[in-house]
Amino acid sequence: MSHDPSTPPADPPDGDRRGFLTKALCCGLGGVAAAIPAAAGLGVLLDPLSRKSDASGTLARIATLDSLPIGDKPQLFPVIATRVDAWNRTTAPVGAVYVRRTGEKTLQVFHTTCPHAGCAVEFREEKQGYFCPCHDSTFSLEGRRSEQSPAARDLDELEYEIRENGEIWVRFQNYLTGHKEKVPVA
Ligand code: FES
Repeated sequence: MSHDPSTPPADPPDGDRRGFLTKALCCGLGGVAAAIPAAAGLGVLLDPLSRKSDASGTLARIATLDSLPIGDKPQLFPVIATRVDAWNRTTAPVGAVYVRRTGEKTLQVFHTTCPHAGCAVEFREEKQGYFCPCHDSTFSLEGRRSEQSPAARDLDELEYEIRENGEIWVRFQNYLTGHKEKVPVA
């Protein structure tokens, strides 16, 4: 039977309409259900990118307190740290520090990088101080720069903590060289 175009199409029967609404509802709920784990997965995938790098340094275990006699000369230690960058977790040397035990529970911890232009300083026992071979900056045992040094500031002292088990942990932080002030590198 042909349909007269001048008359509006007849409404579908009630049963057809209910079936259509039920299908549409199911499709909508299915889509939402599928989107939730997908969004969660995407969040995990992108998580490292959303982590901010900061300038508060990296906490690294350096030594134990009983390995450092009080008043002894500074000891050189590598700093091994675990870092997360993008999707990788790596454990690697990130620098070095000089550690000197000054008391029962006190230390002096210096970054080994010369604040002048970034060479490594050495401890010179005969001079009882630090020396940078690149441009002859010298620093006292307490890290103070000598007046004739080209370095604009003292050696960079680092924060540390001594844990209950006697472990020494240092907050390792790099600073910009060539500045009078300590400017942390993020
Ligand atoms: S880099 Fe140390 S004195 Fe220049």
